Amino acid sequence: MNLPMKDEILKRFLLAKDTPISGQSLADELGISRTAVWKHLQTLQEEGYVFETIKKKGYVLKGKPDKVDPARITSFLTTQRFGRNIQYLDEVTSTQSVAHELAREGVHDGTVVIAETQTMGKGRMARPWESTKGKGVWMTVVIRPDVPPSQAPQFTLVAAVAIVNAIKSVCKNFTPTIKWPNDILINGRKCTGILTEMLAEMDRVEALLIGIGINANQQMEDFPPELQTIATSLSIEEQAEINRPQLVAELLNYLELYSNLYIKEGFKPIKALWEESSGTIGKQIKATTLREVIEGKAIGITEEGVLEIQLDNGEIKGVYSADIEI
Ligand code: BTN
Repeated sequence: MNLPMKDEILKRFLLAKDTPISGQSLADELGISRTAVWKHLQTLQEEGYVFETIKKKGYVLKGKPDKVDPARITSFLTTQRFGRNIQYLDEVTSTQSVAHELAREGVHDGTVVIAETQTMGKGRMARPWESTKGKGVWMTVVIRPDVPPSQAPQFTLVAAVAIVNAIKSVCKNFTPTIKWPNDILINGRKCTGILTEMLAEMDRVEALLIGIGINANQQMEDFPPELQTIATSLSIEEQAEINRPQLVAELLNYLELYSNLYIKEGFKPIKALWEESSGTIGKQIKATTLREVIEGKAIGITEEGVLEIQLDNGEIKGVYSADIEI
């Protein structure tokens, strides 16, 4: 899918790094006039991009605003489908709501809705999700796997494995772990949540909406007091600023890789990857489901992604959905 012309120009500057690009070469390559090129550069400057003019050579990009804009994400993408259509919004109620509308309109597999902030971010179990402006990754990926609805929950585990690997590729000072089914923790504190919703017929998934919220660049004072003891951000743990567009692209690269793997080989390889990063398996836990509270040792997940808990009397119970305390 093609990027809008302004983003196409920006992508070329991002890829060129310190090599100057002339207005004429852009006009020739993109089949537009030099005046049109100049107007797009003006718009980019108004958005906060800084260009330096190198005499007789052209322009070099010297400064970027801190935004998760599509051109910057695309410059790190290696995917075929995922992230090739990105709907970028400055502010939105929830990226899930926009993704629902787009999915109903029939957008392609791998379409992404991403925003700088959400005014009504949604967590699991109808909880609100804090989405500080310009600091996190607040996005929904629309995927259209050809699977029955019963397999939808496994995609949350596919997403969890993709997120862990994306975080590992941009952060080197810690190792994130997965708390079943869908929280990513660093040193026991939550940095990421996943909310998977579904549009489906009785026997067929029409679309899965994988909502991902990653605390990337918040500092502790950016979190409301009630979250300060349980939440963290990648930046706090890494002690460095996180490149959000790169993180988003790495996430989409892994998400496409693991979705393809799941479609080709089933859940088995995903299960193995998930168990490698799990912080739940082998631990004594308390699982609160809609019906009961189960205490015991988490011994593994089944081929369906169901968590198995061994009670003190040896009985093994399978849990499909629950809040877990470790
Ligand atoms: C949870 O842990 O409770 C899940 C949180 C999911 C939050 C993300 S942010 C992007 C997407 N849009 C939403 O409104 N929610 C998800």
